[in-house]
Amino acid sequence: MTDTATDPASAAAGGPAVLRPHAEVAFAAELAALEAHDAEEGRPRPPRWRLSPWSVVTYLVGGTLGDGTVVVPKYIGSRRLMEVAVATLVTDRALLLLGLPGTAKSWVSEHLAAAVSGDSTLLVQGTSGTAEESIRYGWNYARLLAEGPTPEALVASPVMVAMERGALARVEELTRIPSDVQDALITVLSEKVLPVPELGREVAARPGFNVIATANDRDKGVNDLSSALRRRFNTVVLPLPTDVEDEVRIVTTRVADLTASLSLPPVSTAAEEIERVVTVFRELRSGVTADGRTAVRSPTATLSAAEAISVVTNGIALAAHFGDGVLRPADVASGIVGAVVKDPVADQQAWQEYLDVVVRERPGWGAFYEACQDPG
Ligand SMILES: Nc1ncnc2c1ncn2[C@@H]1O[C@H](COP(=O)(O)OP(=O)(O)O)[C@@H](O)[C@H]1O
Ligand SMILES: [Mg+2]
Repeated sequence: MTDTATDPASAAAGGPAVLRPHAEVAFAAELAALEAHDAEEGRPRPPRWRLSPWSVVTYLVGGTLGDGTVVVPKYIGSRRLMEVAVATLVTDRALLLLGLPGTAKSWVSEHLAAAVSGDSTLLVQGTSGTAEESIRYGWNYARLLAEGPTPEALVASPVMVAMERGALARVEELTRIPSDVQDALITVLSEKVLPVPELGREVAARPGFNVIATANDRDKGVNDLSSALRRRFNTVVLPLPTDVEDEVRIVTTRVADLTASLSLPPVSTAAEEIERVVTVFRELRSGVTADGRTAVRSPTATLSAAEAISVVTNGIALAAHFGDGVLRPADVASGIVGAVVKDPVADQQAWQEYLDVVVRERPGWGAFYEACQDPG
């Protein structure tokens, strides 16, 4: 194993040691400053929480502390929504973050776990193949065969580890998990114990334990969450960014982080180009132009801030390596077309219509229109 902190090859290259450090590592300094701030102010912390609920929310939405420490915003949007999410975690109910794809559900869940427990890695990725062992426990079969069921042969799930430590466990895409497997969470959330009959014991959750689940409200099956399970959760719906300015801020901040961690050569990012990508996506998504005057057809593709982030990042890579170091319409055009046109017939028609009716007529969008006619 390579010690990622001191890996000489990455250190020599001048880049970060890992491509994507966990939130608690990337923002260790902020978390430490908030912890110190809590101590000074005498803010109460729930058992085994690293920070006070106030500091967790400040970590999420950003702010400046008394000593001048700047906490950068991670979630751009309503502070109240984050307060509701954090307040849920101090109760005996679990938190369900619900929303369209790309509304920062996973992102918020990671940062919540980092701020509350100092560990965002106790994660179950929900898929149709997620088995009960991922929520309860499994066995190391070599040891099980050799020694029989012993504590050493048991392989704890992230949920079991979180119970033992009094930490937050994350369940991503809860509604994709088969319902009989989901049911394993009911006992955990209602009784706060996980029985291990093979060992004649049970694991009882320590204070500080809770679960943050995410679910996509476009997925079929959200309503199939059994009512018994649903009752264990408070749901917080994460909305799409309300206005263009917020969405541009989201994309600008994330693109800056990403291009830094990918060590891309510097590109002068025209704010204009980012705003254009965001505007195109918002208009196509909502089915109407920003001025509310012209109806446009929405393509089938998901066009969230997440897709805008990747279109701009790709554009920057093009501009850095094949362009003149300035992000230009041609650098984002192919990415936009790729993101919008998923279905070659229906989406292509909707896109061409949008280009001809909206883009061509818009002052200052001529170069972009040309680039989209022949995106390469
Ligand atoms: N309101 C927001 N504030 C900050 N970042 C956002 C916001 N909405 C979307 N993002 C960004 O979009 C990206 C995708 O978010 P993600 O958590 O993967 O979405 P989801 O899990 O809801 O599908 C993340 O990089 C996140 O930073
Ligand atoms: Mg997600």
